[in-house]
Amino acid sequence: MAKVKTAFFCRNCGAQSTKWTGKCSSCGEWNTLVEEVIQRDEKKGYRMPDAGRRSPVRLSEVTFEHERRINTHDHELNRVLGGGLVSGSVVLIGGEPGIGKSTLMLQVALKCKDQEVLYISGEESDQQIRMRAERLKSQGEQCFILTETNTQSIFTHLENMRPGLIIVDSIQTLQTDLIESSAGSISQIRECAGEFQKYSKITGIPVFLIGHITKDGSLAGPKVLEHMVDTVLQFEGDRNYGYRILRSLKNRFGSTSELGIYEMNDTGLREVSNPSEILLSHRDEAVSGIAIAAMVEGLRPMLIETQALVSSAVYGTPQRSSTGFDVRRLNMLLAVLEKRSGFRLASKDVFLNIAGGIRVEDPSIDLAVVAAVLSSNADVPIDGKSCFAAEVGLSGEIRPVTRIEQRISEAEKLGFERIFISRYNQKGIDRKKISIEVVPAGKLEEVYKQF
Ligand code: TYD
Ligand code: MG
Repeated sequence: MAKVKTAFFCRNCGAQSTKWTGKCSSCGEWNTLVEEVIQRDEKKGYRMPDAGRRSPVRLSEVTFEHERRINTHDHELNRVLGGGLVSGSVVLIGGEPGIGKSTLMLQVALKCKDQEVLYISGEESDQQIRMRAERLKSQGEQCFILTETNTQSIFTHLENMRPGLIIVDSIQTLQTDLIESSAGSISQIRECAGEFQKYSKITGIPVFLIGHITKDGSLAGPKVLEHMVDTVLQFEGDRNYGYRILRSLKNRFGSTSELGIYEMNDTGLREVSNPSEILLSHRDEAVSGIAIAAMVEGLRPMLIETQALVSSAVYGTPQRSSTGFDVRRLNMLLAVLEKRSGFRLASKDVFLNIAGGIRVEDPSIDLAVVAAVLSSNADVPIDGKSCFAAEVGLSGEIRPVTRIEQRISEAEKLGFERIFISRYNQKGIDRKKISIEVVPAGKLEEVYKQF
């Protein structure tokens, strides 16, 4: 029987099919099948170091070193990884072009002092990487560069060198001899990632894979890539601001709610350990339309400024736009204000902005958004020493949020004098321990009467 030379792969789930269909029979997505040339030639391939024949072992008899985590010398990255890098793990870092993935990884490579790091680059030449390293003002004696895209020769070099950490920039540029399709195609990405996964599991060397992101924000390449690796991190941020956020989307060895914050400046990425300081602007005079939210991202509390501008609509349909906050949620909050509290906002333009270009998902910011909108609408500034932490429900009720003590103590630490919370959140709070005034509220009216 002749070899199958081409096959169709689903861009969404990676399923293979011999003929094109409009709908993927595996995941049900439409128009995701793409044709690719595949021709496996098993003889050409790099042979993995033999791990010996496997036989079933009793789980309790499996030996392991107790959670040995490798320190990346980057507090934010360690935090997002769940306390350091686990040996034998593969971490995928995705992000838009220019966001700073290469910079972050080069910094990690340069900071490593106790083991050799191999930085494999298929995107930049060694001179370019050297220039970047100069810019980062860091001399990494343990950092080696390899500008190679063929995985077979990469593995040959790895065999001679055996570094302590491997960084691949980027998975889309790699190519394996096993498959004859071009670099960046689904089958290449999947095969190359699979080879690194296998290599890492056998040798215990951790691998960072940098991955590109497609226009709709998902990692380029099939979803299987995300299933294959142990950890998926996303590096994001607004290009106009210097702040970058490292989120964990999947982590086999830690929580996915952790968050790392960096600031990009002219000498690379700086770790931001106290985010509230950069997310709050320090102003002397009170301005309307600004409210501070006490939110929690991951396990970290932070205070962030929400700014709203409400003005009469010039055109027939009022505009609603928001940066950093879901615009549908903004519309919902405006509808609640209109219907439950009788504010006439239907003929107003409403613009909302979360300071620092940060995208907020924590619903506890609702009350601050509502407060900012009302403050701008009435043109009455909110006292700069007040902050908010509550969700707003559809009937205008103020709902409790998680980790309220943490939010309160962070607000207190930063010198706030008042915090508005839901009255259902009062339970666990020990008022004797705190000096900040806690204002409980059950309905929206109770809040805006007190601004
Ligand atoms: P880069 O790491 O090349 O992005 P990616 O690999 O995600 O595509 O980031 C490049 C951007 O970072 C570029 O726009 C310039 C900026 N930058 C700085 O602002 N300061 C620096 O010290 C460095 C190295 C880069
Ligand atoms: Mg890059």
